[in-house]
Amino acid sequence: MILVTGANGHLGRSIVNSLLDKGVDANNIIGLIREESKAQDLKAKGVTLRVADYDWYPTLVKAFAGIEKLVLVSGRDLTARIEQHDNVITAAKEAGVKHLLYTSFFDGNDIGNSPFDFVSSSVKATDSTIRKSGIPYTIFKDNLYAELLPILFGDRVMETGIYLPAGEGRAAYVSRTDIADAVANVCLQDGHLNKAYNISNTENLSLAEIASVLSAQAGVDIKTVNPSTADYIETMEKRGLPTQLVKIFSAISEAIKLGEFQSSSTDLEMLLGRKPLSVQEFLKQTYFKQASTVI
Ligand SMILES: NC(=O)c1ccc[n+]([C@@H]2O[C@H](COP(=O)([O-])OP(=O)(O)OC[C@H]3O[C@@H](n4cnc5c(N)ncnc54)[C@H](OP(=O)(O)O)[C@@H]3O)[C@@H](O)[C@H]2O)c1
Repeated sequence: MILVTGANGHLGRSIVNSLLDKGVDANNIIGLIREESKAQDLKAKGVTLRVADYDWYPTLVKAFAGIEKLVLVSGRDLTARIEQHDNVITAAKEAGVKHLLYTSFFDGNDIGNSPFDFVSSSVKATDSTIRKSGIPYTIFKDNLYAELLPILFGDRVMETGIYLPAGEGRAAYVSRTDIADAVANVCLQDGHLNKAYNISNTENLSLAEIASVLSAQAGVDIKTVNPSTADYIETMEKRGLPTQLVKIFSAISEAIKLGEFQSSSTDLEMLLGRKPLSVQEFLKQTYFKQASTVI
């Protein structure tokens, strides 16, 4: 029995769907959710739903009864998630889970005092808790989602171009569907216990390179502007972007500029048994196919 947390979220739902696509019987998949009304698509596919909250320990122990493999998708509450993940790990131990899979964050380059630490350190902190828990584990150190790109670019990228303080920094952006496929494969294969994988694309692109890909696809010239971080913050606040988002977007950009998300790892390709989705293809699917559901 495999349980996936965050099954109403993007990555969790994708992992459940990937398990189904790979032939796992829906009777053997449980989605951990908070609101059943949002999971009717999964229910219709025969997936069992269990309601629990990372903040409410007894609900977790109950939800984990009979689970052999537990996929913990990291939470999104920046201030609470260390304790939330601790609750999940302790409950998994109490429930006798045999394999804990955790989608963590990329730490392939130690750049020291990363501007993005205030977001990512709470996800990475859980890695060592899991290693110490005694539960056999697999950790997926996910690089930046490709799905972040359209969010960082904003709605009018085709007209305004890319405006971010990321300099010439390159990153190995990965799609959530590839992460989900890698997690599903590990659930279904032997040989992954007590391992940590670097989940990165095999290509690294700068924003200027991404702009030139988009330009070719759109048939218009999409410019890249690399403002200073201070100018970026001032401009975005004037445009009305919420302060916390401005803080996060500028921190991601600065970390990209410093090379924090560059990678030469082929772990993801190995886990997938194929090349990861390229950023070129991701952009095509996102901006030029009507049926896209990636954002
Ligand atoms: N590598 C990257 O670039 C990157 C980017 C963004 C996020 N992340 C991390 O990756 C995770 C998954 O990404 P995503 O896109 O799937 O995020 P998402 O769509 O926001 O999904 C997060 C899921 O966590 C669930 N959750 C939050 N708090 C919970 C709680 N207290 N108890 C139980 N469930 C709870 C949410 O439940 P509800 O549906 O009920 O709200 C949601 O289903 C994020 O949470 C974040 O830690 C990584």
